[in-house]
Amino acid sequence: MARICGKDCEARIEMNIKKVGVLGCGLMGSGIAQVCASAGFDVTVLEVEQKYLDKGFAGIDKSLAKFAERPVEKGGITPQQRDEIRSRLRGTTKREDLADCDIVIEAIIENVEEKKKMYASIDAIIKKDAIFASNTSSISVTELLTAVKRPERFIGLHFFNPVPLMKLVEVVKTIATAPEVYDAAYEFAKKLGKVPVRTSDKTGFIVNRLLVPYLLDAIRAYEEGVGSIEDIDNAMKLGCGYPMGPFTLLDFVGLDTTYYITHVMYDEFKERRFASPPLLKRLVMAGWYGKKSGRGFYDYANPEKPVAGKF
Ligand code: CAA
Repeated sequence: MARICGKDCEARIEMNIKKVGVLGCGLMGSGIAQVCASAGFDVTVLEVEQKYLDKGFAGIDKSLAKFAERPVEKGGITPQQRDEIRSRLRGTTKREDLADCDIVIEAIIENVEEKKKMYASIDAIIKKDAIFASNTSSISVTELLTAVKRPERFIGLHFFNPVPLMKLVEVVKTIATAPEVYDAAYEFAKKLGKVPVRTSDKTGFIVNRLLVPYLLDAIRAYEEGVGSIEDIDNAMKLGCGYPMGPFTLLDFVGLDTTYYITHVMYDEFKERRFASPPLLKRLVMAGWYGKKSGRGFYDYANPEKPVAGKF
């Protein structure tokens, strides 16, 4: 799958991508917008209502403030750099404002129909030679590209949460993606300061293919009485050096999101390891989506001291 992209090619790509459009200003969209602006790109973020832009930009301000507190030699930024990054970011509720973007990265709700509707509604607006990218973690990129009239310019760019900190981007090739589009997206990910990996459009790509069965197995182990939520988390953190135990990570990713991903993955592979354990379904039915809803496997009434549930 490896392709060669020499200096000339990199220069051409650099020239081609200057303005970035981001669709959606939620957790992932705002993070993607932030890293693009931090890398020097002008960014326009589209949302359906101003209140979602306000919420997303408040998150960006919070994250930039954390970077500004850190010494520059440890990856921090100066107050002047923070202001410059902020000045490169613009929010809009009008699709027309994306017309001059060179790449448009979609990070709206993880729902096939909503995503296809969004792409179809901007296809005639976005300039011809722009790249369409989706941040989907589980939906087939090939299915999404059917919504536009230029499937060869469509690609998956899968970022990880929290986007400003996680170094990885999965660059997802479909059978329709043009090689030069793939190379441009790969180089773009590098320009963002990320480490891109090459993968193809198989559900879950690399990370979720391996991560999701692990997370679901942690829930099954708990259901079978192998250990408590806290003990399983501590075991994986301290025994394997993972930054978060599986239940903390599940709450962090969102139980609704994970539950949705299990459906798409189970539907593709029909293997038990991708099927949702009953407890995950119950928590989602109860509206306990994890950290964002204040309760999941842990109770976040005191966010500094989450309390593990007993189910
Ligand atoms: N922006 C800027 N800085 C941030 C930040 C943010 N959003 N969040 C945390 N930080 C900073 C903190 O201020 C802190 O800075 P200092 O060291 O200067 O004090 C530093 O980052 C470390 O943060 P914490 O001390 O709060 O916590 P930590 O050491 O545990 O690191 C973490 C946080 C990077 C998130 C780490 O816990 C981690 O890597 N967790 C795993 C995350 C993961 O696996 N993500 C992938 C999820 S799967 C996915 O996204 C894909 C999918 O499709 C579902």
